[in-house]
Amino acid sequence: MARITAGVATSHVPAIGAAIDQGKTDSDYWAPVFAGYDFAKDWLRRQKPDVVILVYNDHASAFSLRLVPTFAIGCGTEFAPADEGWGPRPVPPVKGHPDLAWHMTQSVIQDDFDLTVVSEMAVDHGLTVPLSLMFGQPDAWPCRVIPLAVNVVVYPPPSGRRCFMLGRAIRRAVESFDEDLNVQIWGTGGMSHQLQGPRAGLINEEFDRAFLDRLVSDPDGLSRMPHIDYVREAGSEGIELVMWLVMRGALDDEVRELRRFYHVPASNTAVGHLILENP
Ligand code: DHB
Ligand code: FE
Repeated sequence: MARITAGVATSHVPAIGAAIDQGKTDSDYWAPVFAGYDFAKDWLRRQKPDVVILVYNDHASAFSLRLVPTFAIGCGTEFAPADEGWGPRPVPPVKGHPDLAWHMTQSVIQDDFDLTVVSEMAVDHGLTVPLSLMFGQPDAWPCRVIPLAVNVVVYPPPSGRRCFMLGRAIRRAVESFDEDLNVQIWGTGGMSHQLQGPRAGLINEEFDRAFLDRLVSDPDGLSRMPHIDYVREAGSEGIELVMWLVMRGALDDEVRELRRFYHVPASNTAVGHLILENP
């Protein structure tokens, strides 16, 4: 049987990808950010997940106003890095796990969650930056990755509650897959940031730290926070944090917190990172 053994949360700032790709990780500005992920790299070398379900949002790279799926699952065999305006990032293509992805699709849809099935799509910084932060710069990513895209770009985003319950449905799906697989689920994006309008540059450390606390110890309560509270307190792009609740919903109610990291600033946002294990 496949099992979800752990969950990871991490921001996905595009400038982090640029810093890696341009060899600037040792600079005074970036070194503290990357040092925050040394623990994760070491932990992953020991964990050796077979599959990562990577919950992220597309930033108008694969989707646009022509097509806005609330939840989309990548069922294809391979996903290439997107060209976000400077050419595709020089990172390996992502290898999918079509059998598990199709099983998840069947299970989750019949469990009352609508997923859009995607066979081909380019994956942007929302997905590739977390892989780079967690795995460094290998020639090939060391595990399969199932992209799960959540719309948080075009209003209306799904509620935190729906994301949390989707996580629960994903767990039921994985645990009914008849193959021994070590599966992790990662929630990405956030933390507080606003990239536009009069409040551009907003960062709310108090909100972020409370969010980290509640994600660990009060996920059910946190999942009931209305979307307007994210926007008001964490900025218009802070709504990306609902994706962390998909990850959290797929774990036990009580989890072991292995790692917490918080750093401000990185580009226009606060970087937050957690590793949670099912006991
Ligand atoms: C930035 C962009 C993002 O998509 C994000 O999630 C965080 C930060 C930025 O440009 O700083
Ligand atoms: Fe983003």
